[in-house]
Amino acid sequence: MSKLWGGRFAKNTDVMVEEFTSSISFDSRMYRQDIAGSIAHATMLANCGIITQEDAKLITDGLKGILADIEAGNFSFEVSLEDIHMNIEKRLTERIGAAGGRLHTARSRNDQVALDTHMYVREQVADIAKLLFDLQQAILDTAQKYPEVIMPGYTHLQRAQPILFSHHMLAYFFMLERDFRRLGGVWESADIMPLGAGALAGTTFPIDREQVARALKFSRIYENSLDAVSDRDYILEFLSFASILMMHLSRLSEEIILWSSTEFSFIELDDAHCTGSSIMPQKKNPDVSELVRGKTGRVYGHLMAMLTVAKGLPLAYNKDLQEDKEGLFDTIDTVKFSLTVYAAMLRGMKVNEKAMRQALKTDFSNATDMADYLVKKGLPFRQAHEVAGKCVAYCLTEQKTLTDLSLQELKEFSPLFEDDILEAISIETCVAARNSLGGTSPAQVGQTLGVAKSVLEKQQKRLDMYTKTNL
Ligand code: ARG
Repeated sequence: MSKLWGGRFAKNTDVMVEEFTSSISFDSRMYRQDIAGSIAHATMLANCGIITQEDAKLITDGLKGILADIEAGNFSFEVSLEDIHMNIEKRLTERIGAAGGRLHTARSRNDQVALDTHMYVREQVADIAKLLFDLQQAILDTAQKYPEVIMPGYTHLQRAQPILFSHHMLAYFFMLERDFRRLGGVWESADIMPLGAGALAGTTFPIDREQVARALKFSRIYENSLDAVSDRDYILEFLSFASILMMHLSRLSEEIILWSSTEFSFIELDDAHCTGSSIMPQKKNPDVSELVRGKTGRVYGHLMAMLTVAKGLPLAYNKDLQEDKEGLFDTIDTVKFSLTVYAAMLRGMKVNEKAMRQALKTDFSNATDMADYLVKKGLPFRQAHEVAGKCVAYCLTEQKTLTDLSLQELKEFSPLFEDDILEAISIETCVAARNSLGGTSPAQVGQTLGVAKSVLEKQQKRLDMYTKTNL
């Protein structure tokens, strides 16, 4: 097929080179953005007297026809036409003749691809924000479903202090709130209009960039044409956002995998969200969590790849930049899928309160509370820590827990122990007593739940704003 840029070439492109340089296999997914951008561009060209209104009408109608063809599956993308931009432009010219050749006036594929990708990322941010919101809602629902369940809290994966299960869940809610905020930053960086930068230096035609920005609902315009065609920060910001989000999901995954093991048995996942083994009939594996944990690696890989692609690139456009898309698209798909399955899986998850309680009965999660008890009776904390430590050591040799000790035994360690010690180190007391702001007491967690709900209300407003720019 003859090339749109074929004028200065005497020879055909090597088939292998054609295949190597082509991006149509992946950038075809930006066809809607490409067509919307071209319609806005042609309309502006006509309004500025650069092409006739008749040509603009032909172009617009032709592009709408192509859009319908693509959506109906009646469009064959050609590798020889390199990318989405030239596939559509070539088809347009076949459809409407000479007017089609006027569309690319005052434009380059460099600012065109930048425009398409900005719009695509903006739209995907809106979708992902919705899915993120839904996962936060699922986490909140899970927390509310088990308001009184107490579980061991861990540090170093060793039992540390008892906490409310809902408190643990809410920690993830607030991680995702930060992800939601970071996503807002991606949105702002994507919401800048690059068209009109031309190949790199602007154009000799009297274009109106503001008009295009308004038509495509951009709130800002790139101030510098070189920057407009070579900026990929918004993609890097998206990949950074995605990497941190996946890191959060990976941490949650690790806990779900542990908790669903026979050793922990803290939770039971729904059969619908697990898979079996082809050889071991008893197996029920938490594959979703394992895959999300695993896919975190590929998202990090895409971030590293893009940072490396952009490193050392001279201004302005270089073909290296075409490498921005596959990692971006794969990250978008991975994040969307992960968020969706996770929300469903959490909704189907059952918490095994008995197993959590059993774990707490046999451990020393209340040792800090014993020390705090002695502090409240006047002992300096360091000494109280020592006394409680000695009690733990004694229990370990006697195969007892702290609540098994009689007052007589306790008095051997400190005369400050009195009858009220048993109540002071009961699991319920341990949890209720951690009533400092943001702590695990039921009163604090109740407050935090309220905060989480108002966070969602605020986020809902952002969601509404994001979807307003959808095509
Ligand atoms: N497919 C190209 C990309 O994704 C479009 C821009 C091509 N520009 C060029 N001068 N070859 O980057």
